[in-house]
Amino acid sequence: MELIDTHCHLTFEQLADDIEAVIARSLAACVTGWLTVGTDPQQNCKAVELAGKFENMYAAVGIHPHEAKDVTAETLTELKELAQNEKVVALGETGLDFHYNFSSQSDQKRAFTAQLKIAKELNLPVIIHCREAFDETMEILDQYGRSIRGVVFHCFSGSAEQAKIVLDYGFYVSFTGVVTFKNADLIRKAANIVPVDRLMLETDCPYMSPVPMRKQKINEPALMINTAKYLAELKQMDLTDFANVVTTTSKNFFDLP
Ligand code: NI
Repeated sequence: MELIDTHCHLTFEQLADDIEAVIARSLAACVTGWLTVGTDPQQNCKAVELAGKFENMYAAVGIHPHEAKDVTAETLTELKELAQNEKVVALGETGLDFHYNFSSQSDQKRAFTAQLKIAKELNLPVIIHCREAFDETMEILDQYGRSIRGVVFHCFSGSAEQAKIVLDYGFYVSFTGVVTFKNADLIRKAANIVPVDRLMLETDCPYMSPVPMRKQKINEPALMINTAKYLAELKQMDLTDFANVVTTTSKNFFDLP
């Protein structure tokens, strides 16, 4: 059985400082592939560099909505250049976050739209971060996202109704360990209606360890096996069958070997 963690931040210091051990534990838990995701220019460079060191590790490069205020024309030029590295398989994470509003909403929309244009030019799929901004995110995707090769809503935290809208557009939904949380009924309802061949798995580590590992403060790819077991049960599927479908989806979506 093999699983791919399609959204992790292995370059964040909590994990990067001990990366060899993190990878060894991941392999022991059947999580055999990783997509390490950048959030700002510095992390993007680190992600590409780290991905270059491991065979089944890939990188996504993008500017997180929190950092949108710092996006200049130069940032975008550098991003586009880096995105052409052979280990880069997606643009992201990008999107809108109106929960924290660390960047103004207009800056966020500007940076998001610009990154969608780059993804289209380079024929790369996009990893969407969307928090308390569903309608606005869909509005921009309706305009600029339809012709993009693939769109995935990462760490999906919306309702079943919202999941249906995402699916109707042909987009994908990715779940973190949050779906295992006691208070996550809303996300479980969404997971219930997402067909198994339209979903992907991720840790978003170092954050949010899944049940029953909530006490482990630093989440890591190895713990994704718990989320896989949980969702396989929710879908009333054998774990190996579930893993096969989800891994095939992930490989096709990101065009991995
Ligand atoms: Ni993330």
